[in-house]
Amino acid sequence: MIKTRCIDLFCGVGGLTCGLRQGGIQVRAGIDLDPSCSYAYEVNNRAKFILGDVKSYPSEKLMRYWKGGDVKILVGCAPCQPFSRMKKNKENTSDSKWGLLYSFLGKVKEMNPDIVSMENVPEIKNARVFEDFLSGLIGQGYHVSYSIVDAADYGVPERRSRLILLASKYGDINLSKDALSNYRTTVREAIGNLPELAAGETSDIDPLHSCRRLSQINLRRIRNSIPGGTWNDWPAELLPECYRKKTGSTYSAVYGRMKWDDVAPTLTTQFDVYGTGRYGHPCQDRALSLREGALLQSFPPSYVFIDPHVPFSRKDIARQIGNAVPPALGYAIALSIKEHLAHHKADIVATRC
Ligand SMILES: C[S@@+](CC[C@H](N)C(=O)[O-])C[C@H]1O[C@@H](n2cnc3c(N)ncnc32)[C@H](O)[C@@H]1O
Repeated sequence: MIKTRCIDLFCGVGGLTCGLRQGGIQVRAGIDLDPSCSYAYEVNNRAKFILGDVKSYPSEKLMRYWKGGDVKILVGCAPCQPFSRMKKNKENTSDSKWGLLYSFLGKVKEMNPDIVSMENVPEIKNARVFEDFLSGLIGQGYHVSYSIVDAADYGVPERRSRLILLASKYGDINLSKDALSNYRTTVREAIGNLPELAAGETSDIDPLHSCRRLSQINLRRIRNSIPGGTWNDWPAELLPECYRKKTGSTYSAVYGRMKWDDVAPTLTTQFDVYGTGRYGHPCQDRALSLREGALLQSFPPSYVFIDPHVPFSRKDIARQIGNAVPPALGYAIALSIKEHLAHHKADIVATRC
């Protein structure tokens, strides 16, 4: 059997790590500079959370987590914000997070993994830093491929367009076709069995199944919202002043309700706030609960996000869930890597001996 050892850069609460582990990749450690991710990362994934900055954390220390393996894997999803906000292909190089892909490339050069995987928003494709990342990998002898996929095609009950890059020292590597799902999981299948909640309530059996309060006006608005509709369905008196103007039409993707028999819209870091997107529950008059967000991102129902010893911040948890790589996409990456390793098994075993 081929022994894999993987390190996850920018690991967050472990969406990517979770999916890789489900697919049989041995993730030994993740590194992130946000201490609020530590508990969930470790308790769910049996991997070490390293609190540190990818820019400065010593590569030799990270490489210790590859010990005992035949194949060294380095994966990572650097923050997407500098690229998702990229207007007309103009890079916002003043954003301090912009250069983190260079730090990722620096780690590849210093650590020399056998396999690399990177996930980000599709807009990154037009950024100079991505071109440099690609040519840097090729210059180090990697075979590289990347594709833009919709997470919904991989079993995630959510529309989420993402770029996935795979690189290998062994030979050509691609996202496996076997990882594609021939079926789209719906919102109903993902969250339809959860206990009902009113706005502002928390479930007695799951503290994560908890949703925000709504103001009186927002309660009236959601009662007048239809699944898949917009605020155009409301009576005029419920419209905020800015929406009454003609230009208000540009805000149509907010204050919506999800449809039961469709996938969810792309979850952001504020998916729990009614008014920031089409995140109204399909039939209950409230925004999504944190657990519903986690399930729509394809986290397992048992994934623990709340440290019982620390007061929890709803805002932090929504951010961690909204930022995560959906585990089902991580699983697709794992299957692709395993397929590739099976193809190159003879070479890998030969280097072991
Ligand atoms: C897109 S999220 C990663 C999500 C994670 N891979 C998952 O699947 O749950 C990006 C992460 O990068 C972290 N981050 C930002 N700058 C960093 C740095 N310089 N060093 C380490 N982590 C950093 C953030 O705290 C955030 O958790």
